[in-house]
Amino acid sequence: MTDMASSAPPPAGEVLIPKAAIRARIGELGEKITADLSDADGAPLLIGVLKGSTIFMADLARSIPLHLEFDFMSISTYAQTGPQSGVVRILKDLDLDIAGRDVLMVEDIVDTGLTLTYLLRSLGSRRPRSIRTVTLLDKSARRIVPVPVEYVGFEIPDVFVVGYGLDFQGRYRNVGDILAINDVPRLASDPALLVPDLFGLSRNP
Ligand code: PRP
Repeated sequence: MTDMASSAPPPAGEVLIPKAAIRARIGELGEKITADLSDADGAPLLIGVLKGSTIFMADLARSIPLHLEFDFMSISTYAQTGPQSGVVRILKDLDLDIAGRDVLMVEDIVDTGLTLTYLLRSLGSRRPRSIRTVTLLDKSARRIVPVPVEYVGFEIPDVFVVGYGLDFQGRYRNVGDILAINDVPRLASDPALLVPDLFGLSRNP
């Protein structure tokens, strides 16, 4: 069977965080979060922000041996005002009422902080018992608004990253490692560039 999440470095990028390091760090995060949520009132609720956080959330949740529930939100920035505006549109809201619940927001990456700031404001107004945030990656060099993040997997430099949930135009979310893209313009001109190295024969663009 081919290992779809090969660690072989692609030509336009390189492994920034190997999957073994991700696994180990998630184990540490899980221990800390488990301890902090042990006094929760009922089942803590993990809220994933689609789509990038899904793979991290799946692994993180299995490193927290508590009775948990899941919910998801999907958002997008308003095209008219631009991504720097911090104006966000909810495409899919939560299914559950979070009033009185202990909530853990799960993000794959915090970059400018605008998305998380909006989400914490929106969810905070729904009267949860507590809200904490965990992000796998923190690109704090790009922060525009300070935002509280209780748990950080890895601080990363200001490089474009894909893999382990993070995409480039929808691709590469299922790569097991986190890859730093050295040549973003080259990838933009050929978005399937990394496919042969990562997944073998078919470019299947
Ligand atoms: C990413 C990530 C965060 C947001 C962080 O989502 O999942 O939600 O960007 O960026 P910010 O701190 O600058 O606001 P993205 O818009 O790439 O969507 P995706 O998860 O569906 O790929």
